[in-house]
Amino acid sequence: MKKQTTLLALTTVLLLGSIPVSQADGGGFFSFFSLERKKEVAPMTDATYNKECGACHFPYQAGLLPEGSWRKLLDAKALSDHFGENAELDDQTRSHILQLLVANSADKSSYKRSKKVMGSLEAGATPLRVTEVSYIKHKHEKVPEKLIKQPKVKSLSYCDKCHMEADKGNFDDDTVVIPEHGNWSW
Ligand code: HEC
Ligand code: HEC
Repeated sequence: MKKQTTLLALTTVLLLGSIPVSQADGGGFFSFFSLERKKEVAPMTDATYNKECGACHFPYQAGLLPEGSWRKLLDAKALSDHFGENAELDDQTRSHILQLLVANSADKSSYKRSKKVMGSLEAGATPLRVTEVSYIKHKHEKVPEKLIKQPKVKSLSYCDKCHMEADKGNFDDDTVVIPEHGNWSW
C-alpha cells in the first residue's frame, strides 16, 4: 500500500511537471509549484530595482544575463553613459541593485531560461545586452523586422511590449501579443 502511494505521488509530480507552462501560468493554481516556476526566469520583486531600472524600459530579470554582465552594467561610470542615457544612481542604491543582480544572475539560477542563456554564451562572455545573447537572438529570428521596429515597440529591448507576462518572468510564446499583429501563437 505504501509503495503504491509513493508511486502515485511520483506519477502526479511527473504529470504536473509536463503540463505546458502556458496553461500552468495565468491560471494561478499550478504556479504554486516551484517545478513550474523554474521553467521560466525568476521574477524581480525588489521595489527599488523595479523603480530605478524600470524607468526607461522593462526591468530585465537578473537571470537573463551572467554576473559579469551586471558588474559591467552597474559600474558607476558605465551608468553615467548607459546606452547614451544617464542612469546614475547614488552609491547605496547602486550597490543594493548590484548585489541583487549578482545574487540572481543567470549563472547562479536553476530556472530553465537562465540555463539556456548560459548554455548559448561562450565561456566567460559578458554581453551588455540581453538581445545579444544567442539564445534570445535565435528565439526571435522568425519575428518580422517591421513588427519589432514599429513605433509601438521600438526595438527588441522592449520585451514587455510583446511578452504580456514579462513582469512575471514568463516569456512563453503563448503569452506573446504583438502590437498591430495580435496573438503570436493562435
Ligand atoms: C534613463 C533611462 C534608463 C535607465 C534609468 C536605465 N536604462 Fe537600461 N537602457 C536604456 C536605454 C535607452 C537602453 C537601450 C535600449 C535600446 O537599444 O533600444 C537600455 C538598455 C539596457 C540593457 C540592454 C537591453 C537589451 O537590448 O538587451 C540592459 C541590460 C539595461 N538597460 C539594464 C538597466 C539596468 C540594470 C538599469 C538600472 C540600474 C537601467 N538599465 C536603467 C535606458 C535606461
Ligand atoms: C516584437 C515583439 C517581441 C519583443 C520586443 C520581444 N519578444 Fe521575445 N518573442 C517574441 C515572439 C513572437 C516569440 C516567439 C517566436 C517564435 O515562435 O518563433 C518570442 C519568443 C521569446 C522567447 C522564447 C519563448 C518560448 O516559448 O520558447 C524568449 C525567452 C523571449 N522571447 C524573450 C524575450 C526577451 C527577454 C525580450 C526582451 C529583451 C523579448 N523577448 C522581446 C516577440 C518579442
